[in-house]
Amino acid sequence: MLIAQISDMHIKANGRLAYGIVDTAGMLRACIDHILDLDTQPDLILLTGDLVDYGRPEEYALLQELLAPFTVPMYLVAGNHDERMALRHAFTGPRFDYLAQAGEFLQYAVDLGQIRLLVLDTVVPQEGRGKLCAQRLNWLDERLAEDARPTVIAMHHPPFATGIAHMDAIGLEGAEALECVLKKYTHVERVLCGHLHRSIQCRFGGTVASTCPSPAHQVALDLSADGPDCFVMEPPGHQLHHWHAGRLVTHTCVVGEYAGPYRFREGGLLID
Ligand SMILES: [Fe+2]
Ligand SMILES: [Fe+2]
Repeated sequence: MLIAQISDMHIKANGRLAYGIVDTAGMLRACIDHILDLDTQPDLILLTGDLVDYGRPEEYALLQELLAPFTVPMYLVAGNHDERMALRHAFTGPRFDYLAQAGEFLQYAVDLGQIRLLVLDTVVPQEGRGKLCAQRLNWLDERLAEDARPTVIAMHHPPFATGIAHMDAIGLEGAEALECVLKKYTHVERVLCGHLHRSIQCRFGGTVASTCPSPAHQVALDLSADGPDCFVMEPPGHQLHHWHAGRLVTHTCVVGEYAGPYRFREGGLLID
């Protein structure tokens, strides 16, 4: 089972650039091409929020077009730049039936055979911060209690403070309560998040919580207490989560043209 995670695409319509600088649509195209060129193809695509930049119907329409080359199942997670109703209206039909089935919050469970995926909705409409209220956490608790298979949780806002001050200021309310729920169980393999536009890992609730790079812009790495809110055009990326030999193993992948691959050995010997 190979899960490709793409996060924080921030798609804008009509050729507009994010923050006047980033061609997010073009960069998502490059990321999709990169994934489609992989020798081992993913079994599903997990898109962990900030799918578009302003939650506008025309942005979701363009996103749908951009994602069309993927034929495997795609699971959408809402982020703070998304708008739940516009997202639901754009992605319809049998492939996205889970969105129609979801209640007020875009939360749903996916049976992936050996493992299970639980998607949480951390959105607070019109706000950058995220929240897991009692209703959303109760849903998670019930889902975790009903099935002991290894489970991957996906949500947009990471549940830990990253040390990047302006992002922590729009972090997740309810993280402590989430941690209490997770600590009740031993089968949560991972909490996969977005929002941070870079790869970060942290022990949380007896499991590992992680964030994913963006296929477009990355949040600048600044660990000072008063760091400004800036982004950088570090290499774009995505992650591959491989359910392999009974563990979920994560590879952070860089999108772009790089030299190689080169051989380590020649005639069976390491090249000196
Ligand atoms: Fe984002
Ligand atoms: Fe976000």
